[in-house]
Amino acid sequence: SAAEKGGYDYFMLKEIAEQPKAVADTLLGRIDPAGSLTLDEVRIPDSVLREIDKIVVIACGTAFHAGMIAKLAIEHWTRIPCETELASEFRYRDPILDARTLVIAISQSGETMDTLMALRHAREQGAKVLAVCNTNGSTIPRESDAVLYTHAGPEVAVASTKAFLTQLIACYLVALYLAQVRGSKWGDEVRDVVRELSAVADRVERVLETMEPVRELARSLADKNTVLFLGRHVGYPVALEGALKLKELAYMHAEGFAAGELKHGPIALIEKDLPVVVVVPSPRGRSVLHDKIVSNIQEIRARGARTIVIAEEGDEAVVPYADHLIRIPATPTLLQPLVSTVPLQVFACELATARGNEVDQPRNLAKSVTVE
Ligand code: G6P
Repeated sequence: SAAEKGGYDYFMLKEIAEQPKAVADTLLGRIDPAGSLTLDEVRIPDSVLREIDKIVVIACGTAFHAGMIAKLAIEHWTRIPCETELASEFRYRDPILDARTLVIAISQSGETMDTLMALRHAREQGAKVLAVCNTNGSTIPRESDAVLYTHAGPEVAVASTKAFLTQLIACYLVALYLAQVRGSKWGDEVRDVVRELSAVADRVERVLETMEPVRELARSLADKNTVLFLGRHVGYPVALEGALKLKELAYMHAEGFAAGELKHGPIALIEKDLPVVVVVPSPRGRSVLHDKIVSNIQEIRARGARTIVIAEEGDEAVVPYADHLIRIPATPTLLQPLVSTVPLQVFACELATARGNEVDQPRNLAKSVTVE
């Protein structure tokens, strides 16, 4: 009913709008006033966490994209080798697991069969499993050694939005907590990141307030057949997520690529007026990546692509090559997906609407896939 949707036409719109609160709620009570993390609810003893020598993240769909970003954060802050794998692939390749492996299973519903079977396999091999889950008491957390709940509130729309942002928050918290417990050499950086996390909800709110041009752009592309997405580093999973949303909701051919791979194949797809969304990393910090993406944008534009550029406020280098420029607030590189994903959600939702599709219940899809 309209009341359940809080005055929005679709649950998805409501859930996109709820993201600042979902992010804040997921941080609530997990950072003490001194800026240290208190994840007592993760009932794996610190002594065990200190011995972990390998981390494997398993998930499906949108949660998998959160897992790809988690890998970059975990390795950077903890220096523990981490791999992220599709749950449906994981257990069929005889993965190397033992008591010093931490498996992180990410699932909004907590009922995805592929993820559940993968975590059962991991536990049989003696690995410790930590669930990141949005649904209290669901099967995946019940079968895990520990759980860190995301506090997104119920997500009804099939296409995941607010759960994704809170999965990222939970993964950052786990990574930072591991760094804290293990006395990482990134101690100071960890404290800075904790501060930045507290500022993210307001930044997401600011992004939401500036989405009208994105909706207008989406409507203007309603009769296109293909949209490509490019990104690097954390921007690569964001590109994949933008493409997934467009497939799920707009039923369009959409693909995400690592921008560095462009020259190894995808650039052959570029033709006049093809919309290409580019997620640009912060020009601060890892500025080498930024410069490389700017030359990618130049290359595709020279071949006629219509460039849709998502870049930080104040990033002037992209201006000459952007047919459409979507601004996001400056955010440290590893945290950028929390703001850069939001315009892509809005874009897909509006395109679906413009194409007359059912936003909350896309064809052929289920909110939670409980078969393998
Ligand atoms: C389904 C949904 C996706 C979701 C995926 C994983 O495919 O349509 O939106 O990302 O399952 O779901 P989970 O509940 O495990 O996060």
